[in-house]
Amino acid sequence: MRKAITLMFLGSFVLIGLAGNAAADEKSQVTYEKNVKPIIAARCPSCHGSDAPAISEFKKDKEGFKKKMKGPRMDSYETLIIFVRGDESGALMRRLDDGKKKADGKPGNMYVWLGKTDSERAENLSLMKKWVGGWTLKRKEEMTEEEKKAIKAPEK
Ligand code: HEC
Repeated sequence: MRKAITLMFLGSFVLIGLAGNAAADEKSQVTYEKNVKPIIAARCPSCHGSDAPAISEFKKDKEGFKKKMKGPRMDSYETLIIFVRGDESGALMRRLDDGKKKADGKPGNMYVWLGKTDSERAENLSLMKKWVGGWTLKRKEEMTEEEKKAIKAPEK
């Protein structure tokens, strides 16, 4: 009897420990609201903000918008996710990548906007990678189903 009680007692400690771990995981999860929105809001709105064209509009006159220093609008979860795992899947990853794992070492052309210094860029890139999950530089047509599924990018 005593043994059984001791075992139950120990067992409940294990359960409490596991529940604590799950809560910690939830807290440390990188989300759009908590981590990504502040980066985008600080670094990208002059060209991708509320006065920028929707991607459908942008595509009609890319060169014209480029000259005006406007890219497609990305100031909300809905408008940003298009470039992560929507119609333009992978575009965000290709543009923001630092190029370190590529054969030519060339960073994406939006990497420079991720921060004012190398260390700020590296820090923000690391957060973006954690948020996206399966970071891939492939185009949508080249991605496998597994690669598509690995792109998590949670909102909250
Ligand atoms: C000075 C203006 C400017 C800033 C700041 C800027 N961008 Fe851009 N961005 C552009 C322009 C112009 C284009 C379209 C031309 C091109 O494709 O390079 C573009 C294109 C993109 C694309 C590709 C869109 C597509 O059609 O596939 C992504 C993704 C992107 N930007 C992300 C970002 C992110 C994220 C930031 C902030 C970290 C950022 N950009 C900051 C001007 C800017």
